[in-house]
Amino acid sequence: MNLCIIGSGYVGLVSGACFAEVGHHVICVDNDPKKIAMLHAGQIPIYEPGLEDLVKRHVASHRLTFTGSIEEGVDGADVVFIAVPTPPREDGSVDLSYIEKVAREIAGVLKPGQYRVVVDKSTVPVKTGDKVTETIHRYAKPGVEFDVVSNPEFLREGCAVADLMKPDRVVIGSNSDKATNLMRKIYEPFMAPILVTDVNSAELIKHAANSFLALKISYANALSAICDAAGADVEKVVDGIGTDKRIGRHFLNTGLGYGGSCFPKDIAAFIAICEDMGVPFTLLKEVQKINRLQRERFLQKMRDALWILRDKKIAVWGLTFKPDTDDVRSSVAIDIVNDLVREGAHVTAYDPKGMEKAREFKLIPESVKLASSALEAADGAEALVLATEWKEFREVPLEEIKKRLHTPLVFDGRNLFDPEAMQEQGFQYRCIGRPAKENARKKASA
Ligand code: UDX
Repeated sequence: MNLCIIGSGYVGLVSGACFAEVGHHVICVDNDPKKIAMLHAGQIPIYEPGLEDLVKRHVASHRLTFTGSIEEGVDGADVVFIAVPTPPREDGSVDLSYIEKVAREIAGVLKPGQYRVVVDKSTVPVKTGDKVTETIHRYAKPGVEFDVVSNPEFLREGCAVADLMKPDRVVIGSNSDKATNLMRKIYEPFMAPILVTDVNSAELIKHAANSFLALKISYANALSAICDAAGADVEKVVDGIGTDKRIGRHFLNTGLGYGGSCFPKDIAAFIAICEDMGVPFTLLKEVQKINRLQRERFLQKMRDALWILRDKKIAVWGLTFKPDTDDVRSSVAIDIVNDLVREGAHVTAYDPKGMEKAREFKLIPESVKLASSALEAADGAEALVLATEWKEFREVPLEEIKKRLHTPLVFDGRNLFDPEAMQEQGFQYRCIGRPAKENARKKASA
């Protein structure tokens, strides 16, 4: 089929490349001429495993093209996807002005007698489909035929290509059989279960899914606080509850709290949407509160061990919001760096992929030094903080870390290291919701 995708960010670009992979002809539109020029040259503006290869392959197969013109994109496409940003406003509610602008632009180029399906792939509040429909009617020429469909995207950064090629399910929110059939044709090659709902329900599914996943993370993080207090091991507790199929082990990993460009914004948006509709979802406020507290508890552990953070030299491993991405937006690792700097610590950070963007977007103060390797960051530091669980950090030999550090004090915000091994190497090791082994042993021998 001929598809047009408006917005060549994470969702748009990965979707476009994957649609091309299964045989569709895709034209990706973006209003940033620099981005379009890069993509034409086979350069990918984001780091996402497998994406560059896919894009290059389908630029070469001519199934994937790029343009700056919505008119050119919409003209030859059976289905037009909207994948533009829906950023948060100050109060957590969603700014839908990009969606509205694109809807107006699509309306302006639709031709009478040419049926088009307009699909909203961006994460939007329930009832946005109605607004998009109204907008297109308002600005389109008389006689234009179209349907608006909601098709939320569930891809995760870092494994976006795999998530899109093998989705758990595809959600199609449509109030028209004609549109539903076209959407089914697009997704048939992915061999995934297809769930067809009305437009409102599909829109709700995305916010409900992300909120539930965040709730699972906060539940595990709240358990980690109890485990810290009781000297129990949260990893064992979540394994114990996660093996119950009704609960499941996924998204019960404790850490510094969830971050990234989706969860914080989507949970805040869902809270605002529910409040707006007169049905406050207070449970989600607690999810947010636990998430904030998790970082604060970690900092308190640092203060407990180091007493005063001012003028302490601290190494931070990790800046991205999770491994295998260069995305540093709403990253808890970045928040930790800023917290430490605010308390007067001298921070040297290292991240395999995120340093350039952290600097470019000025997310960390100039005073933060960036090292060219994990070990270089650790040089002479009085403590090491592990903020993002990159695989490469697990592979650094413990004896090397110990040699480089001024004091063998490690705060593991992601429970990446094995407490036993850290103890054997002579580290003072603090992690999340797992008892410090030296304390456990002292208690056992007393
Ligand atoms: C998320 C959803 O998973 C995806 O379906 C949606 O389309 C977009 O939002 P993403 O933000 O890419 O994807 O990352 P994800 O892997 O879900 O992690 C989000 C945050 O939660 C990260 O900060 C991660 O560190 C944290 N997390 C995740 C935990 O703290 N514990 C877990 O068990 C899982």
